[in-house]
Amino acid sequence: MPHAKIRKAVIPAAGLGTRVLPISKALPKEMLPIVDKPAIQYIVEEAVRSGIEDILIITNRNKGVIEDHFDHVPELEARLASSGKDDALQELNGITRLANLYFIRQKETRGLGHAVGCARSFVGAEPFAVLYGDDVILGDDPACGQLCRAYEEFGLGVVGIKEVTPEQILRYSSLKVENLRDNLYRVTDMIEKPSPDKVLSLFSILGRCVLPPAIFDILDRTPPGAGGEIQLTDAMLALARTQGMTGVDFTGKRYDMGNKLGILQATCEVALRHPEVGDDFRKYLKELAATL
Ligand code: UTP
Repeated sequence: MPHAKIRKAVIPAAGLGTRVLPISKALPKEMLPIVDKPAIQYIVEEAVRSGIEDILIITNRNKGVIEDHFDHVPELEARLASSGKDDALQELNGITRLANLYFIRQKETRGLGHAVGCARSFVGAEPFAVLYGDDVILGDDPACGQLCRAYEEFGLGVVGIKEVTPEQILRYSSLKVENLRDNLYRVTDMIEKPSPDKVLSLFSILGRCVLPPAIFDILDRTPPGAGGEIQLTDAMLALARTQGMTGVDFTGKRYDMGNKLGILQATCEVALRHPEVGDDFRKYLKELAATL
């Protein structure tokens, strides 16, 4: 029996981005470019390709530029139209029509769990997807859509998971999992930033989840955890332990735009595939590599 179709998504984008300072001082890390598009546009496009219709972006007082990116710029559009730059004009107009976008500000930076809690009235009584604003995942089958299908099949909260290295797991979340079939797992326990003796497995939650609306009451009761922040993982733990959650080891390549190396990897790999600059960039990279 299929469960509800996921129609709404939340993109938390109100973090301080301390790992990518100084660029994130005045420029939101979610607006960092991957060749010619900001990270958050790739994420919105993934949500749209996953069948999402309404998207709430959680911002804060320094992130108005995110809202501007998805809006019209009449004087720029008029200039493109009058100079016959139809392709650029079409692309710009396409960005404004991607989805129904909504914005709300997280008034204090109290953690990812607190940011998701700001979405309560937008979400209402439906299950919804969460796409972390600094995690870009590129692939033919959108990662968010893979999680939505798992929700429709099992009717439980879903987390996007991947195996990480023993060093990374200490900075991420660690999950207790049992394989269901193929890339699907049952998740029954989790811990955020475990000490080495508390690691449950090398599977970690990366960048995407689908949550039932019951998460909001749980978040209201969740005290600050690791780093003094309200951790979404701590709230999801309550779901995992009571009802269980589904883990999807999604296909697609994830780029962590909240970390300097991740930004460089994304730029390099997307540039190599880019229709306009890909060939020249490949040539340049080969020449450069020969000198290393
Ligand atoms: P991160 O923990 O990766 O973001 O949160 P951060 O706090 O900006 O990172 P550092 O450690 O300071 O570099 C994952 C996602 O949750 C959002 C972030 O914008 C990011 O997209 N977030 C985090 C919020 O929206 N609000 C918060 O209070 C914290």
